[in-house]
Amino acid sequence: MPLTDALGRPLSSLRVSVTDRCNIRCRYCMPEDDYVWLPRASILTFEEIDRLVGVFCGLGLTKVRLTGGEPLLRQQLEHLVALLSRRPELEDLGLTTNGILLARSAERLRAAGLRRITVSLDTLRPDRFTGFTRSARHADVLAGIHAALTAGFASVKLNSVVIRGFNDDEIVDLLEFGRSRGVEVRFIEYMDVGGATQWSLEDVVSRREILATLGRRYQAIRPLAEYPRSSAPAERFALPDGTTFGIIASTTEPFCRTCDRGRLTADGMWLLCLYAEGGVDLREMLRSGAADQAIAARITEVWRERTDRGAEERVTAPRRGALYQLASLRADPHREMHTRGG
Ligand code: GTP
Ligand code: 5AD
Ligand code: SF4
Repeated sequence: MPLTDALGRPLSSLRVSVTDRCNIRCRYCMPEDDYVWLPRASILTFEEIDRLVGVFCGLGLTKVRLTGGEPLLRQQLEHLVALLSRRPELEDLGLTTNGILLARSAERLRAAGLRRITVSLDTLRPDRFTGFTRSARHADVLAGIHAALTAGFASVKLNSVVIRGFNDDEIVDLLEFGRSRGVEVRFIEYMDVGGATQWSLEDVVSRREILATLGRRYQAIRPLAEYPRSSAPAERFALPDGTTFGIIASTTEPFCRTCDRGRLTADGMWLLCLYAEGGVDLREMLRSGAADQAIAARITEVWRERTDRGAEERVTAPRRGALYQLASLRADPHREMHTRGG
């Protein structure tokens, strides 16, 4: 019997954050001037991460996505990729990055066994990028995308968070950029996750609006039906010429019903939902000498009880605004999106 939660959802996917640090400051994720970081000694080693992933694999895990902060800030990440890619249960091993350091590591990651890579690209305009991320390294991101394409990954995708008044006039341009390079673009609704302290509902460009904009330019857009609806957050579409793109409508049309994801923070906190208030401290178990079996038993017990539907519950929140005020993020950095893995 596969392990399922209280709503019948399996535990098949784990987003593993390898660091809470980031080298840019996207406004939708890290708009503040200073942050409380996880203590260095608490950060899991690659061996500890691999061991935990092994325990999850024993309970049905088939997908791992490495995230951050910015995962490529973690030195020699390819060693972790090599460890994980030796696990036969893992059918899918991916990485989500801002691309800035990708040009120099794409080949090594590929050689170590990474199969899929997703790069965040919210704007094609260097000046906008600088204002939005407080980094002047837009050209490095483009070079990173190029490097990923030449390194021969099974899949390269782009993530674009669409924010009103910032990049909603670039939806078509971003899609054209992806189309010209054979890369699937996924447009993401701006989410009221922890850390998005400037979030407001007015700034969200909905799935419906994104489709309307693209419909005006391309006319016949076909939904690519997936039966049963896959657990991946993106809903996919095709243009008349076969170009595909995705929309991740986490804010207006969330997909918690099929959510098979857990998250592991860089310091070993296991979270059951992007919006979860707290988590299970697996580092403490690891470092106090718990056997794999005991860790598996704890994970099983917790997942069986899982009822989380964070994004769906947010839809009905009265006067929906930023999820947390600054003081509560400072009190517990685990609430930050950059700590819980994008
Ligand atoms: P694939 O579909 O397997 O390529 O990966 P993915 O879409 O899960 O990975 P990616 O890191 O590219 O995630 C894209 C975006 O989807 C994230 O940045 C979030 O905005 C959103 N997202 C990912 N996981 C979740 C989740 O568990 N809940 C919600 N509500 N949104 C999520
Ligand atoms: N809304 C939507 N997506 C977000 N991300 C981070 N913060 C937000 C937010 N507030 C996602 C972006 C990025 C990934 C690492 O995290 O999609 O590509
Ligand atoms: Fe899963 Fe929580 Fe995201 Fe819903 S909000 S899809 S339950 S992680």
